[in-house]
Amino acid sequence: MKIAVLKERRFNETRVAATPETVKKLAALKHMVAIEAGAGTTAGIRDEDYVAAGATIGSAADVLGGSDIIFKVRAPDAAELATYPKGAAMAGLLEPYSAKAEAAGYAAAGITAIAMEFVPRITRAQSMDVLSSQANLAGYRAVIEGSQLYGRALPMMMTAAGTVAAAKVFVMGAGVAGLQAIATARRLGGVVSATDVRPASKEQVASLGAKFIAVENEEFKAAETAAGYAKPMSPEYQKLQAELVAGHIAKQDIVVTTALIPGRPAPVLVTEAMVRSMRPGSVIVDLAVSQGGNCPLSKPDVVVDVDGVKVAGFTNLPGRIAADASALYAKNLLALLPLFTGENAAFGPKWDDEIVKAAVLTRDGQVVHPALKDG
Ligand code: NAI
Repeated sequence: MKIAVLKERRFNETRVAATPETVKKLAALKHMVAIEAGAGTTAGIRDEDYVAAGATIGSAADVLGGSDIIFKVRAPDAAELATYPKGAAMAGLLEPYSAKAEAAGYAAAGITAIAMEFVPRITRAQSMDVLSSQANLAGYRAVIEGSQLYGRALPMMMTAAGTVAAAKVFVMGAGVAGLQAIATARRLGGVVSATDVRPASKEQVASLGAKFIAVENEEFKAAETAAGYAKPMSPEYQKLQAELVAGHIAKQDIVVTTALIPGRPAPVLVTEAMVRSMRPGSVIVDLAVSQGGNCPLSKPDVVVDVDGVKVAGFTNLPGRIAADASALYAKNLLALLPLFTGENAAFGPKWDDEIVKAAVLTRDGQVVHPALKDG
């Protein structure tokens, strides 16, 4: 099949959906890979690197013409969608929880839209799990950005001129991003603590050498769904959690918040009063800013200064480490492709496969995903 890879058009998007490594593998599988000129530049990949791996380079129109599947990082806007050939498939981070109108657009354009976020988190699909691959890097990068904004050192240093105290780092939400944030902050020498509402996270936090802080009541013990996600917590639990966190947060230097329940607005965990209780120079990095933020003061892609406390809301942390994020994301797409490949490397989705069923939003001009269908 012909695979099209476009330059990402969204503001702030530096990743690309294929790398020379994945192109080589796709070419070996007898696929044709066409890449828009300059698509890899922001991820440190030159056109000639793609050509050496077996791809062709062209304009967006050249690349899209006759393509069977379009590899994307982010969802296209209406203008971009209008350039896609009818009948093609498109796989990308389509933000499907809030994409009813967009899905209707893909259906009307005759595009088979594949939302990578909806790939189920089952063992067989681990190599396709974009949420893990990207959140891992986001967690790492959040600590790097936080330590950059923090005007002091993270590790304890004993010098002839005196001792520099280790920074205290508090990670809220110990999922994929949070656990990587903990590991990174520990590697940099911070004194790390973390909180979550899922009991399973307690052991994971401890195994990374961080102190676990949580209200461990009956509700906490039952806070995990069968799918492994947190349940929304009751107002009573949230009050207890806020009281516990309020005392702790005032002593922290860097706070990284990653708490989320998929498809819901982010829970508020760091109130304005808590921000104001921190000492000037400390930093909050709010990963959930796109979903409303774990801190009500965070704003997308700005660092807000609250009397000397910096509140940073980066919406695209993987994009700030574009080469690695692209490499992992491109591998996720490579792993997915066999589910959309028929005989002789032709386009042939395995419609009955549970992964395909879970990730396909639109097909044959219809919205087919239950989460996005009307009614
Ligand atoms: P995840 O689902 O693995 O982790 C979220 C964690 O938050 C879970 O462990 C959950 O139990 C916990 N949580 C939920 N409610 C909580 C509460 N009230 N108090 C404490 N913990 C709570 O998600 P992942 O992949 O780690 O992503 C975390 C967040 O980071 C999401 O908001 C995601 O959208 C965002 N993200 C942001 C990026 C950026 O560039 N800003 C990049 C990647 C992810």
